[in-house]
Amino acid sequence: KTIPATLIPGDGIGPEIMDSVVEILDTVGAPFVWDKQLAGMAGVDAVNDPLPKQTIESIRRTSLALKGPLTTPVGGGFKSINVTMRQEFGLFANMRPTKTIIPGGRYEDIDFVMFRENLEGYYAAMEHYVPVGDDPKGIALSTGYNSRAECRRIVKFAFDYAVANNRKTVTLVHKANILKLLTGIFLEEGRKVAEEYKGRVEFNDRIVDACAMQLVTNPWQFDVIVTTNLFGDILSDLASGLVGGLGMAPGANIGEKAAVFEAVHGSAPDIAGKGLANPLALLMAAVMMLQHVGRQDLADRINHGIKKTITEGGIRTKDLGGNATTKDLTAALKQQLS
Ligand code: NAI
Ligand code: MG
Repeated sequence: KTIPATLIPGDGIGPEIMDSVVEILDTVGAPFVWDKQLAGMAGVDAVNDPLPKQTIESIRRTSLALKGPLTTPVGGGFKSINVTMRQEFGLFANMRPTKTIIPGGRYEDIDFVMFRENLEGYYAAMEHYVPVGDDPKGIALSTGYNSRAECRRIVKFAFDYAVANNRKTVTLVHKANILKLLTGIFLEEGRKVAEEYKGRVEFNDRIVDACAMQLVTNPWQFDVIVTTNLFGDILSDLASGLVGGLGMAPGANIGEKAAVFEAVHGSAPDIAGKGLANPLALLMAAVMMLQHVGRQDLADRINHGIKKTITEGGIRTKDLGGNATTKDLTAALKQQLS
């Protein structure tokens, strides 16, 4: 059975790593039938729109997208593409797994998953500048909001994930001691949701600053983490640093109407076009996409292939301390998988 899906190659290293990922998906016989669409600078260049209507319509049709990194156009008054896409399709859950794949590093055997609320908090970006008399006294204001309904929805999503994937503990991260209302209701609603899973999944909470420290000193204590938008943005990048950095960090934006899978990293203009990019973050995002459509068998196969290639095979790109090019790694992976 084939599955239609939108493919956005993206900007910078996007097309290089997307080619690699599509080749590998083809090698294992992934079911996706791609509808290729533009976004980012590619969209601006073609139709003067970083998120063209056609692209949105394609995702509306397929409810499923694999997206390369997009360069945010500076100036020109364009809205953030990622934020627009999240709002358009109600992609309320940002899921980022953190798992050690390369042995011998500073952090062995790490395996946790972070869920970040993707629509509210400070990223609603209601910002305001108040000039006061002479400008040195000017004030910048930013308003964040969380709704009880959204707090419940994201925490419930994390618990359901825990149940479905045999995870034991959900840790809710907040700052309810200072932002008593904004993140206070997140904790309150989280506690109510946790009651519904009592006896099946353990629940605890952490204050965000302490959690940042613990992610570095003892990340093994974490299993599933759920947090608000801004905290999740920062902590999930920290988490990727534990297991090899941005070249190894996949993510998914999941909503009721669609799911968009992508690497955490950006378009890496400094290495674009040089054939040096690590395609594994985007490949692991494609693996999450396979799991999302129920093809755990293919996901397992690719994960196994990645592990063998970069450990036993010792084939690694420059960001992982190796000297393989994107093409070398792709060829080695294909051989491993066929
Ligand atoms: P970046 O993630 O593109 O690059 C940061 C550093 O990591 C660079 O040194 C880069 O070479 C390296 N790097 C990133 N991905 C790599 C890979 N797969 N293999 C090897 N090295 C890799 O972040 P930066 O430079 O801050 O942003 C560049 C552009 O990307 C900006 O326009 C930004 O807005 C956009 N961006 C887009 C995202 C998205 O579409 N999801 C996410 C983050 C940034
Ligand atoms: Mg971020």
